[in-house]
Amino acid sequence: MNGCSPNSSYCPTHKRLEGKVAIITGGASGFGESTVRLFVQHGAKVIIADVQDDLGHSLSEELNSFGSTTYAHCDVTNDTDVKNVVDLAMAKYGKLDIMYNNAGIPGNLDFSIVDADNENFKRVFDVNVYGGFLGAKYAAKVMIPAKKGVILFTSSIASVSCGESPHSYTMSKHAIVGLAKNLCVELGQHGIRVNCISPCAVATPLLKNAMGLDKSEIEGIICASANLKGAVPTAEDVAEAALYLSSDAAKFVSGLNLVVDGGYSTTNQSYMTIIKSLMP
Ligand SMILES: NC(=O)c1ccc[n+]([C@@H]2O[C@H](COP(=O)([O-])OP(=O)(O)OC[C@H]3O[C@@H](n4cnc5c(N)ncnc54)[C@H](O)[C@@H]3O)[C@@H](O)[C@H]2O)c1
Repeated sequence: MNGCSPNSSYCPTHKRLEGKVAIITGGASGFGESTVRLFVQHGAKVIIADVQDDLGHSLSEELNSFGSTTYAHCDVTNDTDVKNVVDLAMAKYGKLDIMYNNAGIPGNLDFSIVDADNENFKRVFDVNVYGGFLGAKYAAKVMIPAKKGVILFTSSIASVSCGESPHSYTMSKHAIVGLAKNLCVELGQHGIRVNCISPCAVATPLLKNAMGLDKSEIEGIICASANLKGAVPTAEDVAEAALYLSSDAAKFVSGLNLVVDGGYSTTNQSYMTIIKSLMP
């Protein structure tokens, strides 16, 4: 059995995570699900930590013919749940190599500060920031004695390019980058690498639900506004970034916010769009 899922576009000849143990929060859907699939293909044992129990169990069962996955109910805002999932990795495998704090929510699509809902703000910070903080805390407790490990976060293009997401979401994703960089300094002393991935908009369930549009409509908008033409960004692109940062290929990479956006945040086309619209 080579571990390739029926949905994979290729099968790796070299398994880049052979023998590694990973926890992926938000692993039941979107970027997390794609990363679970890719990590398993690359030989990792993966604990899928999520609150969508049916989805998480069915993904785990599908991949478990390769003997590599476990589903654990874990609300990342709950200290005990996060501690328990790290304890599970230690009890089952005796170690934790990779902690991918990926779970996140967009919150209300409320762009106005004057009308902003306070409870929504707190909920977005609870999941996106406090959840990542707890994941890093409990992972660090077991990685420090091991003197090695990888902690990853999913931030967002909203951490580098502002005005296209609500304030609470943008702030939460900046906070994650701050946490990752601070941790990179503290945990570097213990041989632990800490990095972020900041994807652009991708038509995952999160964005489909938030926008109320289907996949092809969202991808049409993304591609029309993209800097890099000829490619559609997918959850697999984010999974590939996670694979790189988790693998020994990135053994001296720490403190990085890896932006996966086809260069979108590098440029601002507004001026040229106006100029072109004025030309005959
Ligand atoms: N899709 C995008 O356009 C996009 C772009 C940039 C960043 N992101 C970020 O990527 C991450 C993954 O998002 P996605 O697009 O794959 O969305 P998704 O909704 O498909 O997956 C997110 C997963 O997180 C889980 N989750 C939510 N709250 C949780 C909690 N309290 N505890 C545990 N799990 C919880 C959900 O159940 C879901 O399975 C998020 O942090 C999101 O902010 C998404």
